[in-house]
Amino acid sequence: MSAFREFQLDDLFKLNRIFFDPLVEIYALSFYMQRLLQYPHLSVTALTVNNRLSGYIFGSHETNKSSSCPHNAHISSLAIDQTYRRLGVATKLIDNFHQTAELNQDWYVDLFVRDTNKSAIKLYESFGYVKYRWLPKFYNNYHAYDMRLPLKTDVTLQSLKGMFIHKIGNLGYILLHFLTLYLNFQLSVFFDIMNF
Ligand SMILES: CC(C)(COP(=O)(O)OP(=O)(O)OC[C@H]1O[C@@H](n2cnc3c(N)ncnc32)[C@H](O)[C@@H]1OP(=O)(O)O)[C@@H](O)C(=O)NCCC(=O)NCCS
Repeated sequence: MSAFREFQLDDLFKLNRIFFDPLVEIYALSFYMQRLLQYPHLSVTALTVNNRLSGYIFGSHETNKSSSCPHNAHISSLAIDQTYRRLGVATKLIDNFHQTAELNQDWYVDLFVRDTNKSAIKLYESFGYVKYRWLPKFYNNYHAYDMRLPLKTDVTLQSLKGMFIHKIGNLGYILLHFLTLYLNFQLSVFFDIMNF
């Protein structure tokens, strides 16, 4: 059983247990403060029966007037305490987030996730999110996916436009990567032979 309420400022000092997981992205205090002050309705915490913080979600509304999808909601951070996982807490937080985004008539929800974070990707795919594009080295040395879920406003799936082009771009990046490795190898063999 979990209860949910808007994130409060002093909750920021109760996140240590959650932060002990290397899969949880930790940001500067200003990151949480900015979202908390600007989008309090998108910053929600889950509490256990003992009033302990078991998870949170932070989000924002983004605008891009020149785009065919002028505004969307963005999940900035989501994490659940390891003791309370696989109990549907993240599902509830995301469900609530989607309801708020629908009320705001946002076109889609997007988020970034490490491409190795299988459990989070499975969670998002269970809601219908798709891997819109792959972002090499997005988190320092870690690659990420930009995942998107079109909402009711986006009847013609404008938010997924360009997905194919991104896939071709990613393929080009991977080919270039292997070509660089191959050339480095050839050069090192050449220098060995020439006894440099
Ligand atoms: C990913 C995370 C948020 C999931 O939270 P959760 O409360 O355990 O998720 P739920 O209980 O709502 O899971 C819903 C579904 O997601 C999938 N899922 C969640 N965790 C999973 C895991 N470890 N392995 C496989 N599937 C998983 C399952 O389909 C699950 O449904 P099921 O339990 O009926 O099989 C949590 O593991 C976490 O905090 N991870 C570290 C931080 C992180 O990765 N955040 C997301 C970064 S973008």
